Amino acid sequence: MSSLNFPNAGVFPVTRLRRLRYHPGVRRLTRETILSPDRFILPLFVCEGEGIRKPISAMPGQNQLSIDELVKDVKEIEALGIGGIMLFGVPEKKDAVGSDSMSDDGIVARAIRAVKDVVGSEFLVVADVCFCEYTDHGHCGVLKKHGPGEEDWDVDNDATLANLVKQTLVMARAGVDMVAPSGMMDGEIGAIRKGFDDNGFERLPIMGYSAKYASAFYGPFREAAESAPRFGDRRSYQMAPDAAPGQAMREIAQDIAEGADIIMVKPALAYLDIIRMAKDQFPGVPLAAYNVSGEYSMTKAAALNGWIDEKRIVLESLGSIQRAGATIIITYWAKDVANWLR
Ligand code: PBG
Repeated sequence: MSSLNFPNAGVFPVTRLRRLRYHPGVRRLTRETILSPDRFILPLFVCEGEGIRKPISAMPGQNQLSIDELVKDVKEIEALGIGGIMLFGVPEKKDAVGSDSMSDDGIVARAIRAVKDVVGSEFLVVADVCFCEYTDHGHCGVLKKHGPGEEDWDVDNDATLANLVKQTLVMARAGVDMVAPSGMMDGEIGAIRKGFDDNGFERLPIMGYSAKYASAFYGPFREAAESAPRFGDRRSYQMAPDAAPGQAMREIAQDIAEGADIIMVKPALAYLDIIRMAKDQFPGVPLAAYNVSGEYSMTKAAALNGWIDEKRIVLESLGSIQRAGATIIITYWAKDVANWLR
């Protein structure tokens, strides 16, 4: 390593960088990327019924849970020192607009109330805000026809905003601690912020899925949430993976201007550059990253085959997400990591 690039780094033999590596105590002292599960959020899928723990085959180790089972798990999650959970509702009945999510008796509202009933005041209950799990067509909002073709339907941005306000007010009334809008509608943060402020929920924070890509890494999630679009894809609302990185910065800037308290980049591992860019551009805004289903399932599959050391791969991967700049990590491994780090 040349002393030109690092004028203060010194040169061999005066400088021996291995001196930082011989003694375990020195290695420990010089660690900097330290994961803390109290800044992890564990996503959970809640379904109707009783006593249900339905394994998600594409995500080994993850289950759809009925509310009674969810409540049991959440107590364990809280005891492990994990920061919080993020709830995804999987309703029994889906329709064109996703009514279940806009009802005080819907699955996600009941789940929030049940969980808030059993957890302490330090534990964070977050709800994912979107319509794809609740609509029969699997798109993230209300559809509108825009052409003569059979599949010339697309999500109507502004009609969806009105419903997002209804959905988030249901969550707020149920006692949610934070909402996380993931639909990538223009203006959704602003609409939800205004809905909250007009209804006495001005203290409730919003974590925007600000820079969310139309990613193949969500594949396994669509089984988990039963939310695969029945036709088409999400490219008219989620960002193209090959778009200019600056577009992600515009999305984030807009969310902040509209009132987002925390911003997010999603997925994580294939977008570490975007995470770093967001951290540098918006150092004053807490930054989250979503270590998504596909990232989880790929590693799980390799681990189940005995090809890799799951624990080390996961700690290294989550460490890279944190090092890139995300201090809040949404991950299906939250429980495992909390156990490993004990
Ligand atoms: C809902 C939503 C999705 C994810 C989080 N919220 C799916 C999607 O956008 O298709 C993906 C999470 C994961 O893959 O783990 N819109």
